[in-house]
Amino acid sequence: MGPMAEHSVRMAIVGCGGRGREFAKGVVADGRCEVVALVDPARDRAEAVAKEFGLRSGVYADLEAMLKTERPDAVCLALWTRLHLPAIERCLDAGVRTILCEKPMAETWPKCRRIGDLAERSGATITFCHQRRFAPGNRYLRRLLRDGVFGEVLRLDLYSPPHLLDCGTHTVDQALSFLGEIPGKWVLGGCDLSKTVNYFDVPAEGTAVGVVVFENGVRAQLQFGGPDLDLWGGVRLHGTRGFFEVLWDGEIQRAVVYDDPSWKPEPPEGDPREDVMRHVVADALDAPAKGEEPELSWQKALRAAEILFALYESMRRRERVELPLTNVNDNPMFELLGLEQD
Ligand SMILES: NC(=O)c1ccc[n+]([C@@H]2O[C@H](COP(=O)([O-])OP(=O)(O)OC[C@H]3O[C@@H](n4cnc5c(N)ncnc54)[C@H](O)[C@@H]3O)[C@@H](O)[C@H]2O)c1
Repeated sequence: MGPMAEHSVRMAIVGCGGRGREFAKGVVADGRCEVVALVDPARDRAEAVAKEFGLRSGVYADLEAMLKTERPDAVCLALWTRLHLPAIERCLDAGVRTILCEKPMAETWPKCRRIGDLAERSGATITFCHQRRFAPGNRYLRRLLRDGVFGEVLRLDLYSPPHLLDCGTHTVDQALSFLGEIPGKWVLGGCDLSKTVNYFDVPAEGTAVGVVVFENGVRAQLQFGGPDLDLWGGVRLHGTRGFFEVLWDGEIQRAVVYDDPSWKPEPPEGDPREDVMRHVVADALDAPAKGEEPELSWQKALRAAEILFALYESMRRRERVELPLTNVNDNPMFELLGLEQD
């Protein structure tokens, strides 16, 4: 087998900061891609990634130039949030068929919808990096839930560091994965703006609280940021037969089965952060070939985004908001913070 057969997917990594490095780790571990290009206006960052992973990729300062010269099959977009939609548009225009993008999808609800429309129209595979779905502890708990170990799900408590959109997306995605991706039915949200945060050029509240009721009647209470969090980030799930508390990366804090006091969780051993990026890459490459929806599909990311933007809209309207979310043409939190919308 020649090198092209071994490395048949021409991959580019766009953005070579913290997350670009993580994507590189995943691509190298998967082993099926040839990394033809690393893109970053800070050239030294692209060169550092090439050196660290022993890649003989072209180094580009500009996405457009790279797309024209290299014609990659696939790209990893490890860019700040506002750059996601424009980069996805350019890649699709250049015929890229597989796009692995960082979360959150975009900084406004219409931009998230637009990404969904582009994905649908192009038929390209677009995934968003909620990589924690692949943490062994989270996979183990999803299996126990499917096997009914905790009975029927009744209620969830959701926790995250501040920033509903940037950090909260991991918790809401984790909750949706435990609930079998059931959409939300209505939400009610509140916020504390006496302190604010700004992550990756997206400003947000210091504390958000809320209630999310899902279509099956299960309810989730949430606190993202602020004092007195009893889990820094993760989910507590109450079922009819037991409950568990799990952090973002699948570390199980407690798990109980009510009618079997001797039962103990036995998640797979090892570092929960190891290997998840290999799965992120394999998911995007393999799911379409198997005719399956990727575990990190844009459809799932859009469902999480809908809940997050509905919570923001509820804060703006000071009303309970029904889903599907309609009549939201911006990021309501930007208005609450008195910021210009573009
Ligand atoms: N999945 C996760 O767990 C996780 C964790 C942290 C951050 N994130 C998300 O990842 C994204 C990126 O975060 P990061 O920590 O890698 O940021 P970073 O600042 O470390 O890296 C971003 C890189 O993009 C480069 N860049 C800027 N404009 C560019 C352009 N037009 N083309 C190519 N490169 C460009 C910058 O020079 C920088 O090197 C954010 O959207 C963030 O929300 C996800």
